[in-house]
Parts: sequence; structure tokens; C-alpha cells
Amino acid sequence: IPVDDFDLVIFGATGDLAHRKILPGLFRRFVAGQIPATSRIIGAARTEQDDHAFRDEAARAISEFAGVKANDPRLAQFLDLLGYVAIDARGEGGWTDLKARVRDGAVQAFYFSVAPALFGDIAERLANFGIVDSRSRIVVEKPFGRDLDSARALNATLARHFDEHQIYRIDHYLGKETVQNLMAVRFANILFEPLWNAQFIDHVQITVAETVGVAGRGSYYDKSGAIRDMVQNHMMQLLCLIAMEPPYHFDPDAVRDEKLKVIRALEPLEPGDIVRGQYQADGREPGYLDDSENPESRTESYVAMKVRISNWRWQGTPFYLRTGKKLRARTSEIAITFKEPPHSIFEDAGAPKANELVIRLQPNEGMNLKVMIKEPGPGGMRLVQVPLDMSFADALGTDGSDMPDAYERLIMDVIRGNQTLFMRGDEVEAAWAWTDPIIDAWEDSKRLPEPYDAGSSGPEEALRLMHRDNRRWREIRA
Ligand code: BG6
Repeated sequence: IPVDDFDLVIFGATGDLAHRKILPGLFRRFVAGQIPATSRIIGAARTEQDDHAFRDEAARAISEFAGVKANDPRLAQFLDLLGYVAIDARGEGGWTDLKARVRDGAVQAFYFSVAPALFGDIAERLANFGIVDSRSRIVVEKPFGRDLDSARALNATLARHFDEHQIYRIDHYLGKETVQNLMAVRFANILFEPLWNAQFIDHVQITVAETVGVAGRGSYYDKSGAIRDMVQNHMMQLLCLIAMEPPYHFDPDAVRDEKLKVIRALEPLEPGDIVRGQYQADGREPGYLDDSENPESRTESYVAMKVRISNWRWQGTPFYLRTGKKLRARTSEIAITFKEPPHSIFEDAGAPKANELVIRLQPNEGMNLKVMIKEPGPGGMRLVQVPLDMSFADALGTDGSDMPDAYERLIMDVIRGNQTLFMRGDEVEAAWAWTDPIIDAWEDSKRLPEPYDAGSSGPEEALRLMHRDNRRWREIRA
């Protein structure tokens, strides 16, 4: 569906995110016919350059990251929408110029693709120079704070100039196709929801495994670690979508109210319920200490935790979360292990195994439900577990290449004015309120993270989290 005519200002338009994601994503939506040709995309950054130079820069980024040829006529048409204003985020320069470029009647969105330290300065100038009104929208990137205090301060700063309904806090995991599919699977089928509780589910595993290390962004990552970088936001969102009650409607506040209730119901983590790891050099590959350029670092590049949700639905069903860098494969999945059938009528046929539902988020998005059947053949009743395996691409007859990427979808939602897939201020604060004590306890301790080999499944110690409960992690594989 095409969106209304809009003006989008990208602060930080010369930066990495704009080059890799925002500009290529907008181009792809333009090619898909969703962006009206009268819309304007205005880059704003410190670099002094004119519209033409910015268009050249954008063309290079789009060719590289959207795989389009430099002489593609659609690229030239798209570049016509682009303009540029050199701006001083902390001073006066450029703001009057920017005001002159933004139209009054169109939908206005301002994307803060800059260091969080500048959010307040930019918000203040947008308001003081009269560039925004109560219909303007702002988009803010993670990290949204680094603890509860800083997130509160950031929310307060933005709230001085914008209402909550104007603020779009991005968690790009919510823009992923299969993450939204979690809601469709749960709430558009009768099959799963009656079993979706502690009575029938033994445990849930959420895995986000990456093969990349932190080389090149070590200075950010080393101050962050896996808990701030992945758990407080992306993993928390996945957990919420799996654990929340059905919202009464697919509407921004209805969905976000339910997610918030889950976060508030998380029990504080026990010290024994978390394992931190750090990848180590193996001769060929550098280790975390090299990549982060901090030989003393205790920052975790891997974390595994056992999380409990204190409410009627989940009492007694643990959620095991793990995420890490430099692991064996890039794979993100949610695995729901159901309980074993209460009684087997098939003596000597082998015990029925628990059903398992695995939702693969990336790559090769799909679902796999393990069910018991009779082993074919004349040998009497023997039970065997088989997969009902579905790849979304096969089932829908697409190779996935026409699917918008997470950023594209989210930017279009900003223009449509739909906040469902964006985090609300109270949600972000609640997530920090839960992770803060975990981070503080670690900072107060003298412990070192458990070493693990690059290309492995993470530290041995993480197996213990599961083994002591008579459970095991699923294998990490592509
Ligand atoms: C980012 C983190 O938010 O998400 C990165 O800062 C991480 O460290 C990335 O690599 C993972 O995103 P994706 O979409 O590649 O799974």
C-alpha cells in the first residue's frame, strides 16, 4: 500500500546506518511503488556539502547495499527526491535552512540516526526553530540508554518536545517478518493457544546466535556487552511476543500493554541462572580481547540465562535465553518444548517423545513441529518422531527476495503513523529495570567470563544451566 506524501529528514545521513539500511531501504520501497514521487528525503549531517554531493553519496551507498546498478533509471528518479542540509546539532547552523525545506502539509518524520548524546540537542532545536508541530514524528535508534536512569532521562528529554504518540523507538527485530509471524501463528490459529501455558509447555529456548565478532565496533561493544546489546532489547521483545496474553486488538497500545505486563512479571535473575562467555583467540582467529582492543575486558560476548515469568500462565515454565558472537552458525530460533503425554497406551512401542515447535527467525524462516507417528512397516507398533517442516518461502512460493527488510518495513510504518512495532517509553524502562541488577551484580563481582572457542556453541558452562534441569540446548547449526 503506498503511503501518503511525506518529508523525511535523516539526521546522521552520512553515517553507516543511513548508508547500509535507511537509504537502500527507502530506495527499495520507492521501486516497489510505495513512495509518492512528491515525497522528500532530506539528509542532515555535519559535513558541508550540497544536494548533488549528497545524491552522489547516496547513489554509491544504494548501489553497494541494495545491489542496484549505478545507471539504473529508477535510481536517478529516486535521487531526485533527495536533498541535503549541513547542520550543527549543537549550534545554530543550518536549522533555518532545514525549516525552509520541510513542508507544512506533508507527513513529517525526523530520523535520529546519530549518537544518543545528540538526541536532546536535536529535539530541542527542532522545537525551538519551529520546525515541528504536534503531528511530526521522530524516530530514535537503539541504544535507548544504557541503564534505567539514562533511559528515563532520555524519555524525559524527548517528552519535553514530543508526545509519546510522536516517538518511534526502533527495535529492528520487531521489523523482521518472522518476528511478526509469531503473533500470527499464536493469535490466528486455534491450534496453539490452548496449549500455550505452563500446563502443557515444559520450557522455551530462545537462541540468537551470530558468527560475526565485534571487530570494528569494539569500542561501542566493549561498553555494552551482550546483555545491553541484545538481551535488553531484541531478546526481550522475542520473549514478550511468545509469553504475552492475547491483546484484544492488533493495535499499538493493546500490544504494548501486553508486552509490558510480561516484562513486569519477570523474576529477578538468580546469580546461578546466568552464564557469561567471551570468545578466545584460536591461533587463526583473533579473540574478543583483540577485537575489542581492551586486553583487560570482562565484557561478555555471549550470555545464557534461565528466566522465570511470575504469572498464572507461566509459573513453572522456564525460558532459556542465549545469544552470542562468533558462534558456530548464524541462526535465530524459538523452540517450544511441550510436556510429554501423561500416559502411553503403547507398551513396548518406545516412549512417546515430547512435541516440539521450532520457529526459525533467520535464516530460512519457517516452522517445524515434531510429532510422533507409527514407524511404517509390518513390525507392529513402533513410535517414531518426525518433523512437520515448513519453510515460509516454499509454502508461499517466494524466494524471499521481495520481502522488505526490517528497516524498510519500520520506516514505512512511521510514515503510516503505526506504532505497533515500536517500543513505548515505559516498556524500555521496564526492560532496563530488569537488566540493571543483572549488570550491576556482574560489575560488583570479580569474576571473569567463561572462555569459548570461536566457531563453537558457546562456553561449556552454559550446558550446566540446562543439564541441572535435565534439559539440553538445541544444537546451533545453520
Ligand atoms: C544489533 C546489535 O542491534 O543487532 C548487533 O547491536 C547485532 O550487535 C545485530 O549483531 C543483530 O541483528 P541481525 O538483524 O543481524 O540479527
